[in-house]
Amino acid sequence: MTKQTYISALKNPVFRTISKASSNLKLECYVIGGYVRDFILDRGEAKDIDIVAVGSGIDLAEEVSRLLPGKPKVSIFKTYGTAMLKSGGIELEFVGARKESYSEESRNPAVENGTLEDDQNRRDFTINALALSLNEENFGTMLDPFNGIEDLQKKIIRTPLDPNITFSDDPLRMLRAIRFATQLNFNIEKKSLEAIERNAQRIKIITNERVVDELNKILLSEVPSMGFSLLHKTGLLPFILPELVALQGIDEKEGQTHKDNFWHTLEVVDNISRTTDDLWLRWAALLHDIGKAPTKRFDKKLGWTFHAHEFVGSKMVFKLFKRLKLPLNDKMKFVQKMVLMSSRPIVLASEVTDSAVRRLIFDAGEHVEALMTLCEADITTKNPKKFNKYHANFQLVRDKIVEVEERDHVRNFQPPVSGEEIMETFNLKPSREIGIIKDAIKEAILEGEIPNEYEAAHKFMLQKGAAIGLKAEKK
Ligand code: CTP
Repeated sequence: MTKQTYISALKNPVFRTISKASSNLKLECYVIGGYVRDFILDRGEAKDIDIVAVGSGIDLAEEVSRLLPGKPKVSIFKTYGTAMLKSGGIELEFVGARKESYSEESRNPAVENGTLEDDQNRRDFTINALALSLNEENFGTMLDPFNGIEDLQKKIIRTPLDPNITFSDDPLRMLRAIRFATQLNFNIEKKSLEAIERNAQRIKIITNERVVDELNKILLSEVPSMGFSLLHKTGLLPFILPELVALQGIDEKEGQTHKDNFWHTLEVVDNISRTTDDLWLRWAALLHDIGKAPTKRFDKKLGWTFHAHEFVGSKMVFKLFKRLKLPLNDKMKFVQKMVLMSSRPIVLASEVTDSAVRRLIFDAGEHVEALMTLCEADITTKNPKKFNKYHANFQLVRDKIVEVEERDHVRNFQPPVSGEEIMETFNLKPSREIGIIKDAIKEAILEGEIPNEYEAAHKFMLQKGAAIGLKAEKK
């Protein structure tokens, strides 16, 4: 690329404003990091721009704000010596160039002012250390002391310094290396990869929030298995998701084996990633079999069994979400539900009856499509005949879901006869009988004995009430 091309990365008028501000303050400044990398990779318009100032990043941010229309508010993070402002939908992050030395115990750096070169040295990867000058005398010049551009072309993740230094400065970078490799489909250079293996246990000092940010980015990549197999290979996975590590391996007893549920899981995650971008459904795919490790048994008659692994797995989801500080809200409940129900459509596919489909829709509710997507992704057989047969069966289930739902509307099931009406009809106070009648109505609808309609349900209520010895006061 020529110098001209780099100037085209700085078309946004905000860069000229920053340039003006820096010359007012007589300091140098550069665009650095992800913005430059993604411009060269043509990854679309970035929303975050990192600016490094040789001097005070906070002063520069304030001067930029002064020159911008509307004088956007500057948020200052004194401890880190950084400042942020928003302009035209873009977040500008300002930092003073630094020479950092991190303490062994935490990733909080002891910051010293430094030159641009010092700052580039202390960045994570060569591809993230590219700096574009915003100084008036050489606006648009690329400063690439570690051949980051060549690494972008060769698709290589490499640290600017000895990787042991870069990773022990900030162990999160080990995860970032894997995340970038996965997102960009790059290779991690051998020395950097070996350093991750050597330093893996240092990931323990990183907060769960930051780990989860990276995991989410890996999960949202096109082929997430690439990231998870790297996490496995480097020995990071046991510190992050031991539940997955426990799925690895094939046992043999009396000549009987079971599949390796770790590699199977990764295939399921890749499969589902072809059909959905929903982060939580991808999490569900990742965790759908975690209950298989603690429930694995060998039975002389049945062979390998994983009895109730869906139930056990859904309980493990809660513990795992809590440990990693993932949200304990409806997202977690969704993942739990998917894990709990992950075998339901499979059982169903062998015999698709109306009542079984009604129950599936009733139990999965609004998530029935997501559940079908998960179950289809779970088909990883390498036998093409079986593969086609399973998919065809699921198509039958899907067709039946549409047909049954159109007719019976059980997805957002509301009892057609309310508890109050049951109480009034039989002149009851709140009591067990009401629950019994309500349940019986629901069961009759799900079994297809009566349609999901008021008239039929009312009639059924009267019959059921009579059957348990209640007298109707009102008909
Ligand atoms: N950086 C670093 N070490 C870290 C985090 C960040 O050296 N642990 C540097 C890198 O130069 C990086 C820049 O800070 O490019 C900005 O970090 P961040 O916004 O987290 O990442 P981006 O590279 O912008 O990429 P993405 O937005 O995809 O996370």
